[in-house]
Amino acid sequence: MPAESRLEDDEIRRNALIIFFGGISTVEALILNTVHALATHPETLQRVAADPALLPVAIEETIRWRSPVQAVTRYVTRDTELLGIALQKGCLVNCMIGSANRDEAVFRDPDRFDIDRKDLRHHVGFAVGPHHCLGSRLAKAEARIAIAALLRRYGSLRLDAAASTEPSGYEFHQPSRLSLQC
Ligand code: HEM
Repeated sequence: MPAESRLEDDEIRRNALIIFFGGISTVEALILNTVHALATHPETLQRVAADPALLPVAIEETIRWRSPVQAVTRYVTRDTELLGIALQKGCLVNCMIGSANRDEAVFRDPDRFDIDRKDLRHHVGFAVGPHHCLGSRLAKAEARIAIAALLRRYGSLRLDAAASTEPSGYEFHQPSRLSLQC
């Protein structure tokens, strides 16, 4: 590899940090959000418990509907305009991917948790472009293994609503307490 295309030591350190730590609370949020979604949608839970092949779809729909990472930031690289809004080179833009994942121009009935939707592949829960999440497959595999084990062990899960909180959070999104009656 030519020397000029190698990463600097500091870039390697920063990448290693994201690889080690970027996949901890995000995966925790994905597991909690999926379990919360299933526990609050008993018919979907029944289908997923009866047919484990549906679990990856339920996880994918959770990434859209309850995106564990709600926002990413980008610097504008040249003066441009987006939907009538002028963006100047150098500006920092907060991109709300959680909101994009509920865009009614893209998703039918976007506020509905629906594992049968045909438009699921358009979600941007792992961002898009060169910085698309490096660990997206690992994250989904971890969630699948954890939730499959939970369903095998307990089958039916009911939310203890009084002891739980709704998923929330502007940047990272998950319930701060999730209590189940198994
Ligand atoms: C459900 C779990 C996860 C979600 C929702 C998620 C989401 C994201 C998002 C939205 C980005 C883009 C950030 C940006 O452009 O500013 C990203 C980048 C990244 N993620 Fe994840 N992530 C998850 C799990 C993981 C795991 C398990 C790993 C690794 C073990 C990981 C490693 C990375 C790395 C290295 C990047 C930076 C990629 C780059 O800039 O080229 N992530 N992730």
